[in-house]
Parts: sequence; structure tokens; C-alpha cells
Amino acid sequence: GSEMCIRDSTLDGKTCTPNYLTIASTYNKEKNERYLMANKSLATAPADQTILVTGGAGFIGSHTCVELLEQGYNVVVVDDLSNSSEEAIRRIGEITGKPEKLTFYQVDILDREVLDKVFAAHDIDAIIHFAGFKAVGESTQKPLEYYWNNVTGSLVLFDVARNHDVKNIIFSSSATVYGDPEMIPITEDCPKHEATNPYGETKSMLERILTDLHRADPEWNVVLLRYFNPIGAHESGRIGEDPKGIPNNLLPYVAQVATGKLECIQVFGDDYPTPDGTGVRDYIHVVDLARGHVKALDFMGGKVGTGKAIGLGSIEGPVAEDGTRSGVAIFNLGTGTGSSVLEVIKSFEQACGKELQYRIIERRPGDIAENYAACDKAATELGWVAEYDLARMCADAWNWQSQNPNGYNA
Ligand code: NAD
Ligand code: WQD
Repeated sequence: GSEMCIRDSTLDGKTCTPNYLTIASTYNKEKNERYLMANKSLATAPADQTILVTGGAGFIGSHTCVELLEQGYNVVVVDDLSNSSEEAIRRIGEITGKPEKLTFYQVDILDREVLDKVFAAHDIDAIIHFAGFKAVGESTQKPLEYYWNNVTGSLVLFDVARNHDVKNIIFSSSATVYGDPEMIPITEDCPKHEATNPYGETKSMLERILTDLHRADPEWNVVLLRYFNPIGAHESGRIGEDPKGIPNNLLPYVAQVATGKLECIQVFGDDYPTPDGTGVRDYIHVVDLARGHVKALDFMGGKVGTGKAIGLGSIEGPVAEDGTRSGVAIFNLGTGTGSSVLEVIKSFEQACGKELQYRIIERRPGDIAENYAACDKAATELGWVAEYDLARMCADAWNWQSQNPNGYNA
């Protein structure tokens, strides 16, 4: 195939180029023929379904795999381990006691041929798409890498999925698409704003791309989940967030101050128009977030909710005879409660039983004062509400961090 040609270093440019052009044009024809084939049914029981989890070794992905396995789903993970460890996969099997229902492939979603083999080897019913780069600051330095990995990688994934008639997809979007939000709490009626960094723009673009896929072929069954600030860890303390290098996000930074790896928390500004002057965010326990994905699968299969288009951008599409929905459904996943940086530090001090050093420095460019979600749509349509409060999030994060001070690297 064309990609094998590009990747195969034993082929020289001369044989490669004409070959590529020929194969590319045949390929497009095939795509058109297969264009309107049926989507997979989601009306069956979890034990009869296989979910492809891209980025399943990562922070949110690993917790979602645990919840899926606990509900009885079969899980196939593709992850290139660019920001994660295979040890997470092993521990998902250990926590759930169901390693036989979990298959892992170390695959880059940009690698069309290998991805195609994964779809050929497994009867995949739906995709939960986490794979991508996520560091806001880094994305401003490496825009090409971010657009290439996040956007091109997703395009390859969607195309291969379509060629295997898999059109059920849950996408990891972000509250970042609201920019500096027009309303607080943020409902799904809140208009999107232009992203302030390439990372955020990839999320916005992918929301649009998936929406356009549904518009062109109404069998696409798309759920866009806009996460607020996921933190915490599984209660076992065996899986959690393991950022490489010095953490950019508040919680892992605080946790590393608590273990003594870092010295002092830097609070980015205390002159915001918020109760204590520090930034307010909607922190959500990663296990709650993971469970939201399981509910989204129920929603896609027509097992919960009405499927009505609620909020800006959601589309109600035709429903298959077995109840499998189609459309574009957008949900905020948060707790509905905002916490300030100082409140987070206090709560973490309680969890770890130590006083944590911090100092106030200047604002971080691009930060907003406050954001938190309105969670009514997820409550009524998904039957999902976050259960865990900030104290529990910090306790679980500390349990993970103190047992694994170097993350997955023993
Ligand atoms: P993470 O980095 O821990 O997980 C992403 C996973 O994707 C990693 O395991 C990484 O190795 C893998 N990956 C990256 N590029 C890949 C590629 N080309 N092919 C295969 N695998 C690849 O991040 P996370 O916090 O678990 O986030 C998961 C998703 O949720 C991301 O899409 C992220 O943008 C989104 N999100 C995260 C947050 C957050 O604050 N953590 C908030 C909103 C949205
Ligand atoms: C939280 C608060 C900081 C670090 C980011 C992305 C967003 C989404 C979630 C992916 C803010 C303050 C932070 C520190 C601090 N990710 N802070 N000292 O910026 O709300 O959201 O992650 O989609 O797109 O932008 O999260 O954890 O970086 O910051 O004072 O060392 O903590 O100013 O108020 P943020 P964060």
C-alpha cells in the first residue's frame, strides 16, 4: 500500500513516488464504494461489545479501561506510549482481574496500515478516542507536531474506522473550546471561542470534523465530551497521572511538592476577580470522568436519555431499528463546583498531612479567572453526575503519588 511505501526505507524514492500515486487513486474509489455501509449496533450487552480505546495507557484512558472492563466490555487499546507506560496496561489487568478481556497494541494512530490490521483483527463496535498530545505550552512551541499528531492522527483513525464500518465514536474534547467563557456556569449553550493555543485549536477542529462527518453520513454516532480539570486517581493507588518532566498542571505539581520532589508551588496570580484572587477551576475525579464515558456508550446505544439535540452544536440524527443512535451529542463533564488554587492546596495538605510551601507569582499568560461547568445535560441525558468531592480527589491523588513517587518508573 501507499503508506508501506513511504515507511519502507528499503524502497528508493523512484519506485516509491509513482507507486504512491497509483495506489492513492484506487484507494479513494474504494472509500466511496464503502461510504454508506451500515454502522455497528450498540444495542447489545457490554460483554458482546469491543471498545477500541486510543490512548488507553494514558491518565484518563487507563481509568476508563478499568470502568469498561468492570462493566463487562472487551477492550482493545492502541497507544504509542509517547506519554505513557506499558506498566499502566498491566495494572489495568491487575485491578480489574480481567486481563484476558484487554488487548494492547503499541501503535501510533498515524500508522494507517497497522491500525487497519487492528480493525481487521477485532470486531470493534465503538471507539473512545483519547490519543493525542495535550500540553498547552508545548503546543505553542511545536504547532506542527500538535496539528500533525492530533488532527492528522485522528483523520487516519476516522478513515480506517469508516472503512471497517465503525462509526460510533466518543471524542475527548475540552472545556478549552469555550475559551474565556461567555457564561458561568458553562452550559452546552455557551458559544465556543477561538482557541488561544494550537492544542485547544486541535480540539475545536476535531469537534468540527466529527460534526461534518455526521452531516455527510448520518450514520456517524458522535459524542463530544468536554472535560473540565481531571485529577485524582483510582482508589487502589495503582494507576494515576504520571507526567514526564516538571508538571504543567496544578495537581501533579502540588503532589510532587508533597513527596518532596519539588520544593514550592508557584501560584499563578492572586489578583483575579475571584473570592481569594486565585484562579477557579472545576476539578473532576478521573474515575467520575471515566464513568461518564461508559454512560456515553449507553447513550449511543439508545439505552439512556432522549437523544434530543440540546445546546449549541448538538444534532439529533436518525435512530436505527435496534435503538443505536446517530447524531452529534455534546456534553460537559465536570462537577459544577469551582475551586480556587488556594483551596486545592489546602485540600491537598489535609490529604497528605503536611504543610505545603507555596508562593504567589505573576499570572500565567493565557489563563482565565474562572470556569466551571453546568452539568444538567449530562445528568438528564446520560444519567451521570460526578460523585467525588475535592477532598476525595486529593486523597486518591496522594494515595497514588505516595505509593508511586516516580510514577510507573519503579
Ligand atoms: P495522556 O497524555 O495521559 O494520554 C494520552 C495518551 O495518548 C498517551 O498514553 C499517549 O501515549 C497517547 N498518544 C499520543 N499520541 C498518540 C498517537 N499518535 N498514537 C497513539 N497514542 C498516542 O493524556 P490524558 O490526560 O489522559 O488525556 C486524554 C485525552 O483527553 C487527550 O486527548 C487530552 O487532550 C484530553 N483532555 C485532557 C484533559 C486533561 O486535563 N488531562 C482535559 C481535557 C481533555
Ligand atoms: C489550574 C489552575 C492555574 C499550575 C489545563 C488546560 C485545559 C485542560 C485542563 C486539556 C489555574 C493554576 C497551575 C501551577 C498554578 N486540558 N496553576 N500553579 O490551565 O485550568 O487547564 O488543563 O484540555 O485545556 O489549559 O489547568 O492545572 O494548568 O491550572 O497556580 O503550577 O491552577 O493558573 O488557575 P488549566 P492547570
